[in-house]
Amino acid sequence: MADSLEGRVSLITGAASGIGRATALAFAREGAKVAVADIDPEGGEQTVHLIEDTGGEALFVSVDVTKASEVQAMVDAVVDAYGRLDCAFNNAGVGGIGVPTHEHTTEDWDRTLGINLKGVWLCMKYEIPRMLEHGRGAIVNSASMLGVIGMAGMSAYVASKHGVVGLTKSAALEYAKEGIRVNALCPGVIRTPMNEKYWNEFPETEEPLREAEPIGRFGEPEEMAEVALWLCSDAASFVTGHAMLADGGFVAQ
Ligand code: NAI
Repeated sequence: MADSLEGRVSLITGAASGIGRATALAFAREGAKVAVADIDPEGGEQTVHLIEDTGGEALFVSVDVTKASEVQAMVDAVVDAYGRLDCAFNNAGVGGIGVPTHEHTTEDWDRTLGINLKGVWLCMKYEIPRMLEHGRGAIVNSASMLGVIGMAGMSAYVASKHGVVGLTKSAALEYAKEGIRVNALCPGVIRTPMNEKYWNEFPETEEPLREAEPIGRFGEPEEMAEVALWLCSDAASFVTGHAMLADGGFVAQ
């Protein structure tokens, strides 16, 4: 799939770390210009340097995806720098907190839904008009395998990711005739800083989770990057409204 994003302008949120960073590197490898957006400027600049070190083109854009004015400014900055927007991976997110539903605080609930769901909607709200200007675009939203199944102790996260899947399907229908495809990526358990932090705090959770992955191991961020890349590329030209599992078989159980 050489040069599958050659010359395309891409925007990736949450690109300072984990799946977002791996995807930014994969998009650049395939010839895309990459806007690396994140609330973490240090990690974001590191991603930009990693891309530039391999001869790619990237810029860092600071954003808190929960703030409409910042998301609008992020999309404007990309179009100002690169002239248009072809693909977006709305990936910024936070993990679950591992407590039963009645013990979630309203602060945890608002934070999880605010970043994982409202953040994705805000990104689409400002990305789509820019794509409509050129009559084409590809959007991938970060959901999760927990966007299609439940998990005890994770209700706010699960609700946010089911919300992303629903949002993705509705938007896909709205813009299917306008040349814009909208899909969701639903990863299984991936070895990223998000999970490493959780496993450091609750080491007893790591092994059972690994054993629950039918494929016998955790996924790697680079494996998610290849799926996001394919969904954004013309190779997926007839794929829209799809919640694509890349979960080592977890949901097949
Ligand atoms: P990560 O923690 O390595 O990266 C998440 C990035 O999002 C960080 O760079 C962080 O600074 C950024 N971010 C957080 N809040 C933000 C905000 N308000 N505005 C802008 N940026 C913000 O996490 P990971 O694992 O790479 O996760 C990426 C996405 O994949 C998330 O949406 C997550 O829910 C999803 N996912 C991850 C899975 C996993 O096992 N790691 C499984 C399923 C889904």
